[in-house]
Amino acid sequence: MFPEFPISPEYLSEPLQPHLADDLAEHGWSQQNIFLPEQLTLELAAECRLLAASGALNAASVGRGTAQAIRTDIRGDRILWLKAGQSPACDSYLHIMENLRIALNRTLYLGLADYESHFALYTPGASYQTHLDRFRDDDCRTVSVIIYLNHDWLPEQGGALRLHPQGGSVQDISPLGSRLVLFLSADMLHEVLPATRDRLSLAGWFRRRPALDN
Ligand code: OGA
Ligand code: MN
Repeated sequence: MFPEFPISPEYLSEPLQPHLADDLAEHGWSQQNIFLPEQLTLELAAECRLLAASGALNAASVGRGTAQAIRTDIRGDRILWLKAGQSPACDSYLHIMENLRIALNRTLYLGLADYESHFALYTPGASYQTHLDRFRDDDCRTVSVIIYLNHDWLPEQGGALRLHPQGGSVQDISPLGSRLVLFLSADMLHEVLPATRDRLSLAGWFRRRPALDN
């Protein structure tokens, strides 16, 4: 059963599957298949498509500072960073992620302080080569979160998120609508394989506070 929409303020105080935090701590990654309400997934997908059609998504870059560059051979998605208040659907999503942040802190003591997130659209053939989500000069990103917005995705359409867990076997995860994937940003090498249809998602990062300089 999908949870109801609009989201009640209590949503996700309980429905977080108990294995989620344990898997993350033990294996460095976890997933939950029906994480968002179906109606909310549909609204977020429609918003992402509308933003794409209006030209609001921009080619994503790799690296930071002077090393920042658009390299579509490395990373082919187009993105838009979310802002609080941009739409009711985005606010519902951000509310759910805030509850997830609190739930993860309660079980794993990760000290997650905030969340940043963007829509991402990979058109057919676009991919993202194997990478880590942490920048070399910034270790705040702690837990990576991907939620997929694709109705009726078939495995033969490609587009898997491929995880390379340290000491574990490779995992291919199809970008099926409402599915949540979590992994530890510092250690999980991962890549996005090309697909034969548009691939929509929300990617985000729970971050710790930066260490204070002496
Ligand atoms: C990213 C990323 C994975 C996915 O945006 O950094 O790795 O499945 N996304 O979309
Ligand atoms: Mn990534």
